Amino acid sequence: MTTPATTTDRILTGDRPTGPLHLGHYFGTLQNRVRLQNEGVDLFLVIPDYQVLTDRDVAERLTENVEDVVLDYLGAGVDPTRSTVFTHSAIPALNQLLLPFLSLVSVAELSRNPTVKDEIAHSRQAAVSGLMYTYPAHQAADILFCKANLVPVGKDQVPHLELTRTIARRFNERYGPVFPEPRTLLSEAPLLLGTDGMKMSKSRSNSIALKASSDETARLIRGAKTDAIRTISYDPEHRPEVSNLVLLAALCQGRDPHEVASELGDGGSAALKATVTEAVNTYFAPLRARRAECAQDMDYVRKLIAEGNERANAIAETTLDEVREAMGTFRMS
Ligand code: TRP
Repeated sequence: MTTPATTTDRILTGDRPTGPLHLGHYFGTLQNRVRLQNEGVDLFLVIPDYQVLTDRDVAERLTENVEDVVLDYLGAGVDPTRSTVFTHSAIPALNQLLLPFLSLVSVAELSRNPTVKDEIAHSRQAAVSGLMYTYPAHQAADILFCKANLVPVGKDQVPHLELTRTIARRFNERYGPVFPEPRTLLSEAPLLLGTDGMKMSKSRSNSIALKASSDETARLIRGAKTDAIRTISYDPEHRPEVSNLVLLAALCQGRDPHEVASELGDGGSAALKATVTEAVNTYFAPLRARRAECAQDMDYVRKLIAEGNERANAIAETTLDEVREAMGTFRMS
């Protein structure tokens, strides 16, 4: 999209801990985040555990899910000595920002958020909780507590980023300059579909997890939907399922999907699937090995999370103090 990130940028983004991350996450954003980190951008990754409670009553397996996401990050190349990974429920000062932030937005603004409306429509809950309407303001706290100026997200998050900018602007106007108005960095990566040709999603059982074994990967790709035309081509509009598999192989091989397709020629689905399986398993082998190695030492992983939380806490305390000062509320120090 717009101007790329630079080393003076502070990026914040994150993933809800609702299960292991999949190849769609990896090629959609995770790969890019690791690239930015390696280029020297200051990367913050929030694991927004409270947000799991927006469309369900109880967050099950929360600790395991948080640890799973962290392991996926580590496998993908997130370096916890350079980047800050934290869970927002462990950062009291971040959560406290929600109170002044909520005073800056109207109920009407909260209730016309299209992503929230969509999530309500798909929710299986009997009643819509207050958190469903207010979590975008909470997300603003996730972003603004560390004064991130760049937020890489998918299209569905754009309304939340608009709200974040609105909150930052109104706070600054009302109380004086404290927050930057962060830019949205929309992912340019082509959207990877699930094995059924629909959006790849944890809840649709059509995704290939980053941590899947080679055999599991082979089985999932064997079961992927294709079509009856023998000649392989890359034509996402007319042949979404076949093109998606071609794209997956191309992403793993760092090649152009048209080239991958023409090389397969008249090979049909079997050859296509064999190529994709091989490409995925080859590309992800080192990531999966690194992940498995980290998983051997969960005490170390928990220590990393605790350290990330500690770093985030210190920053949140400083920001909250600036907020107290600007608002004229009681300051702790
Ligand atoms: N709402 C995001 C999602 O559902 C997750 C998220 C929470 C997030 N806080 C964030 C993303 C801050 C970017 C920045 O995917």
